[in-house]
Amino acid sequence: MLTLSKEKIEKIESIFATVLKEVKPTPDELDIIARYSNELVSRLKKVVPNNIEILAVGSIAHGTQVKNSHDIDLFMLFPKNISRKELEEKGLEYAKKIVDAKKHESYIVKYAEHPYVKLILGDLGMTADIVPAYKIDNALERISAVDRTQLHNKFISENLTEGQKDDVRILKSFLKAHHIYGSDAQTEGFSGYLCEILIYTYGSLINLFKHFYNLELPIVIDPLNKIIYEEDSNEVKTLSKKFNSEFIVIDPVDQNRNVAAVVSKETLARFVLSVRFFIDKPLLTTFSGPKFSDIYSKNKVLKFSKALGLSIFVLHFKVPNIADDILWQQIRKLKGSLSDALKKNGFAPVLSLENVFLDNGILVFFINDIKIKYAVINGPEVYMKESIDTFLKSHKTSFGFIFESDKIQSIEKSKYSDAEEVIINSIKNMQLPSYLKKEELKIYKNNIPEEIAKLVYSAFVLKTSI
Ligand code: UTP
Ligand code: MN
Repeated sequence: MLTLSKEKIEKIESIFATVLKEVKPTPDELDIIARYSNELVSRLKKVVPNNIEILAVGSIAHGTQVKNSHDIDLFMLFPKNISRKELEEKGLEYAKKIVDAKKHESYIVKYAEHPYVKLILGDLGMTADIVPAYKIDNALERISAVDRTQLHNKFISENLTEGQKDDVRILKSFLKAHHIYGSDAQTEGFSGYLCEILIYTYGSLINLFKHFYNLELPIVIDPLNKIIYEEDSNEVKTLSKKFNSEFIVIDPVDQNRNVAAVVSKETLARFVLSVRFFIDKPLLTTFSGPKFSDIYSKNKVLKFSKALGLSIFVLHFKVPNIADDILWQQIRKLKGSLSDALKKNGFAPVLSLENVFLDNGILVFFINDIKIKYAVINGPEVYMKESIDTFLKSHKTSFGFIFESDKIQSIEKSKYSDAEEVIINSIKNMQLPSYLKKEELKIYKNNIPEEIAKLVYSAFVLKTSI
């Protein structure tokens, strides 16, 4: 682990203190949130039958929330003998009942593992997720994925000190500044609960940073037993295999769950590099993230692509209200298929991006947009006799053949002469995700409407900043 000089530690601690002052809600704010949360709890208690328990969970219940992200998490805990169908139906029914339009409240239905209600209180700028789950005492009884949340609540309230709760708030701000906070499908980052159990395990934020400065993979962190397996031991190998990951943080309430399962390789790498930069040069500005304005986005994006001699292709589509993880899985899959098609035809993208804002979604490719007449097709090794015979036969019309080491390549008239053709034809021949209507898909090349360019530019800044 890294050792730091006394001066360095003092400098870091003073930055942490400044950040905390900015992000910790004031006692007045905490009071307003608590009062509103309690009020919603009592309203819910009035509409549900006696055998359903109402529980406030998440960062507001834990005392780890940061300013201006006032999302209240309320759980309705159903007895286990209720069917999942009934839980979902009743869950929505009860939650909708407490929405009070006279108090300027509205709601939307969100889709996760099961649907839930997000209540929006316009006046206070707060929202409340009202989620049904089964009441359980330990993880083995779990029926739905969100059932663990009530156990998290207990573990955190019993185990985190006030100082550690503040460290969680500072850590969340650090992660937010680098756009890696949140376990949602777009971010694939650190959830609030992951922050909490990391601070618990390492004791403090500075200690966490000192360990992550030199992080090596694989690593297994076991908060319940306060053990960190850093060496490539048999234990680590077994657990890496079991969880199919190199970054494992075992849920203290469920030894079979990796709390860091959603953290992508890119997110973790971004965290480690940001920690190194911060420790090497502790600056308050690290906590404010990349600053950029999205006005004249089109010009800024074009400036970049022109400097590199690239063209920008933007696919624009409308996004329906479906579960985030399904949406992102499909967006990334489509991006992967198009990238592959471009690569195969000689137009490998230099940079590709994706972004969603409200109901607008985009895929972006920056491509070296030359016109080509011929393309090189890779063939098999000479020693694979049958394959070679087939290859030579099927490429009879070839302009010629090339030896590439012991493989044969053929020079063919290319199927597509530029990247645009590849994109258009790939989409034509592709089975698109069900929600994406081919007729509604728009393709822009360089000439992007400013509203869409804003999405391109913000994704660009985030992708390319450290
Ligand atoms: P939230 O996503 O609201 O996180 O999940 P949070 O801890 O309250 O943090 P912020 O301040 O709102 O950003 C609420 C609870 O749901 C469970 C956790 O128990 C968490 O406390 N949860 C949520 C998970 O276990 N994993 C997740 O990926 C998300
Ligand atoms: Mn929350």
